[in-house]
Amino acid sequence: MNPLLFNLNSDPVLASQLRAHLDAEEGVINQRYFPDQETYLRIDSNCQERPCIVYCNLYQPNDKIMPLLFLVETLRELGASKVALVTPYLSYMRQDKRFLPGECVNARPFARLLSNYLDFLVTIDPHLHRIHSLDEVYSIPTHIVKAAPLIADWVGTHIKQPLFLGPDSESEQWVSEVAQLIDAPFLVMEKNRKGDRDVEINVPSLKTWKDHTPILVDDIISSGRTMLTTLMQLRQSGLNRGYCIGVHGIFADNAYSELQEEAEVISTSTIPHPSNQIDVSAALAVPLAQWAKD
Ligand code: R5P
Repeated sequence: MNPLLFNLNSDPVLASQLRAHLDAEEGVINQRYFPDQETYLRIDSNCQERPCIVYCNLYQPNDKIMPLLFLVETLRELGASKVALVTPYLSYMRQDKRFLPGECVNARPFARLLSNYLDFLVTIDPHLHRIHSLDEVYSIPTHIVKAAPLIADWVGTHIKQPLFLGPDSESEQWVSEVAQLIDAPFLVMEKNRKGDRDVEINVPSLKTWKDHTPILVDDIISSGRTMLTTLMQLRQSGLNRGYCIGVHGIFADNAYSELQEEAEVISTSTIPHPSNQIDVSAALAVPLAQWAKD
């Protein structure tokens, strides 16, 4: 039976692309607030014995998480055969360690909460650093879609003589893969984060790369400080104006306009934004289609 796909407070464009790729039926949710600002939710689709996919993109997650749990619980009570979550951006993965005494390691309770409700989770390039695999924190089956092949295709089509640059050691996993896929050189720099909006990047001499197009690649652009600090140093070292590509473009505050001063800014469509140029919908649909069939 073809799946039902419910869009919970997320991008309608990606939702309809996913529906088309999956040949899914649109799940209808009636949602509003009670006068006391608590959530009212009703499912107006017959989900009896059907696989149900909830598309709830968990960037800025705090306001989405309660409606998500209400929806999933109700789907089960109404007879859904199984329930998957597709969240192109998986939040609360960056606080993966107790950096200061007493801090919450967000990744762990967040993963436990979702695992208690869902049968399957699909996401794109979650921030895996000190946590090496989602299995370390999620107790349900998960599937990670990789953005590297999509970024490599885009760069291969649009840019001549690319030099890929990763701003910090964590970015090496993406930068190296994208570079290898189109047989281009890459370099990884060192970052020292001193605060939420304060980073130092150690850029090596780049004299030999002046005829290349620099392409900075990272998984997340949040405050944009990592990219911005690196781009300013690349300019000072005499490289051509280049590109800054983020898998997940969150762009807090003025990050987007500040970055545009220094480079062409590109992101994948995991988070809806004017910089989206790399469509993730088809890749995201593949594991969901398989799960719905199994
Ligand atoms: C963390 O290490 C990530 O890979 C990114 O480099 C980081 O999240 C970027 O954050 P921001 O844009 O706030 O510098």
